[in-house]
Amino acid sequence: MMQNQKSLLPPQSSTIAPDVDTLFYFIFYTGLVIFAIVLFGLIFFSFRYRRRKGQPLELTSGVDKNTKLEWLWTIIPTILVIIVFVWGFKTFLKMNIPPRDGIVIKVTAKKWFWMFDYPDGRTMINDLVVPIDTPIKLLMSSEDVIHSFFVPNFRVKMDVLPNRYTVAWFEATAAGRHDIFCAEYCGEGHSKMLGTVTVLPKLEFLVWKDSENNAFSDATPLDEQGAKIFIQKGCNACHTVNGKPSIGPTMLALFDKMESFTNGSKIQVDENYLRKSILEPQSEIVNGYQPVMPTYQGLINNRELDALVAYIKSIKDN
Ligand code: CUA
Repeated sequence: MMQNQKSLLPPQSSTIAPDVDTLFYFIFYTGLVIFAIVLFGLIFFSFRYRRRKGQPLELTSGVDKNTKLEWLWTIIPTILVIIVFVWGFKTFLKMNIPPRDGIVIKVTAKKWFWMFDYPDGRTMINDLVVPIDTPIKLLMSSEDVIHSFFVPNFRVKMDVLPNRYTVAWFEATAAGRHDIFCAEYCGEGHSKMLGTVTVLPKLEFLVWKDSENNAFSDATPLDEQGAKIFIQKGCNACHTVNGKPSIGPTMLALFDKMESFTNGSKIQVDENYLRKSILEPQSEIVNGYQPVMPTYQGLINNRELDALVAYIKSIKDN
């Protein structure tokens, strides 16, 4: 993606990019011209009217007004500002009103990665795969702090908030890979919150869509994914993995353990018990603990649940 190296801006790889850039260059070059007029005017006049040697100190003439000039420097900037406003507002509307057709993809930002949920249930992490020449609407929310979804090549940047949906859309015009950055400082891992938009020709996208290789079928074992989820989902705030009791029971050597509950019942911890404890934490309370755990029903998908269970199983003594 280096074809535009002479330009000030990254490659234009979406339908909106040329609009944004043209406006940018208009403002940039207009600013440059005004800058030149003011700066060179300043230099020229201070030279032209400098005090010369042997010249007596004179008061300046009584000219304090030039109506023509004042009209000029009022009207010209006003016109420029109106042009920028109308042009910018039109582009703003185009950028912010997604077309009705196209694919809707749910974007979830989390410390510190991007998750993309497709309408057919496929989930991708940090890799957004889309067809070329198709409007893509991104419905975005965050699971923790404010992030910002930024694809420089598309000129798309939108904040991703924890308490509401924000929307962005684009239509890619260049196949290939385009960087995604997080553009809002969101903590320690902010600079590593990177992703890629992979733009495929339409046919290749259909093939990809029908293929089975989900992002999760990569080589990462389930329990390793679970270890990450354990932290992402905040489990570690109340559950230790080192044997020390905290707000909730420790996860160390929990699997296979005989657990007794406040209602008098007992159970040997298995996969289903773990699953139930995550989704319905209030159903049985382990002796010695308070019923304070919130349910993760709806906050965690099946895959994440699988991964968490695998991870908890793997936390053994020794
Ligand atoms: Cu997410 Cu910075």
